[in-house]
Amino acid sequence: MGIAFDLSRAETYLSREELERAGAKAAELCRTLYEREDTEGVLGWRTKEKSVLQLDEIKAKAEEVRKRADVFVIVGVGGSNQAARALIEALPRKKRPKIIYLGNTLSSYTITRTLEELEGKSVYINVIAKNFGTLEPGSHFRILRQWMAERCSKEDMADRIIVTGTKGSRLHEIARERGYLFLQFPVPVGGRYSAFTPVCLFPMAAAGLDVDEYLAGMESACEDCQNHLEDNPAVRYAALRQLLYSHGYDIEMMVSFEPRYAFFTKWWVQLFGESEGKDKKGIFPAASIYSEDLHSIGQYIQEGRRNLMETFLSVKEPGPSLKVEPCPEYKDGFDYLDGMEFGDINRAAEEATLNAHAKGGVPCIRFTADLVSERSFGELYYYFMAACAVSGEMMGVNPFDQEGVEEYKRSMFTALGKTDP
Ligand code: PA5
Repeated sequence: MGIAFDLSRAETYLSREELERAGAKAAELCRTLYEREDTEGVLGWRTKEKSVLQLDEIKAKAEEVRKRADVFVIVGVGGSNQAARALIEALPRKKRPKIIYLGNTLSSYTITRTLEELEGKSVYINVIAKNFGTLEPGSHFRILRQWMAERCSKEDMADRIIVTGTKGSRLHEIARERGYLFLQFPVPVGGRYSAFTPVCLFPMAAAGLDVDEYLAGMESACEDCQNHLEDNPAVRYAALRQLLYSHGYDIEMMVSFEPRYAFFTKWWVQLFGESEGKDKKGIFPAASIYSEDLHSIGQYIQEGRRNLMETFLSVKEPGPSLKVEPCPEYKDGFDYLDGMEFGDINRAAEEATLNAHAKGGVPCIRFTADLVSERSFGELYYYFMAACAVSGEMMGVNPFDQEGVEEYKRSMFTALGKTDP
């Protein structure tokens, strides 16, 4: 396992008996999660078999995109873009193709500015939408089709547009009518649990990232969750956060001293927020990137209301060597750093923050990846998805629906005059 986890600075808030009880309950829920039949069609994320579809087609088309595209546009929102974006923004990759995100805003300023970036470039588009009813990706797909139709032949468009959706959806029909490559969004996998489906696999492959390594990470975490029920990170984390919640800790912050994890923390916020925030229950998920946010939210964390738990996402790899060179002639007051590596300075700042927050009464949890890599992303995504399913069930909510989001959509559709269902 390339992921270590340390719960010691949070477990001190709880008694041994309650930890054992919650641990046993979480392990039992995890066992039934893997044993039960997927009668509601929401558990496809559990296995590679139900998630990883069309891998050869994905790899072949991704190679074409890498060869021919200057710009690759990912059109999707929420679970239909976050996992891929978190990987692409965190991992080193070639400059080409440039990756651009659309389908996630209604701001005419942002849409217009983004379209300007495409001018004169060789553009490929991947539209990702589970049911193809969401306004943002649907409307942007129309804009992009029209933009492309003015610049490309029908045949060229058929090569450059790839759609990811459910079989039988209108998006699937459009793909058939126009000859676009269609990738399946597996029906029994919800958007925020789709990290191992074509929804994420195709964009990450088109961006030049290693899909096989990523899936190896997924498989290792999946094996761990199924075979080490009592002692895997998903079960222990789920049990711990639910216990803390029952003691009044109803906000959880995911924090990292690596800005490259910023979109990972956004993915995590969506996963837990949409899965647990219902029936007037839920731990409110928030995210911060340190050290910048220590100079804003850090004050509240240290001394504000004591209802916060903090989950650190750390990495062992120190990053490229970057030393502070001496500069005695300036007498700038920073000579105590002379000869130090930024990797070590960052680590010292992280340890100091963790200690200060723990001392200030914040239960602190830590996940540490050996490396920021495709493999560790595969492990982290899987552990957090399994943890979220177990944690939601411990709380007594359905972690796989999102009726509240549907409510805002209905209200918006009425406001905009949409009449068909
Ligand atoms: O997790 C979910 O189901 C949601 O966040 C969806 O991913 C998001 O609303 C986008 O849905 P769609 O792909 O249908 O446009």
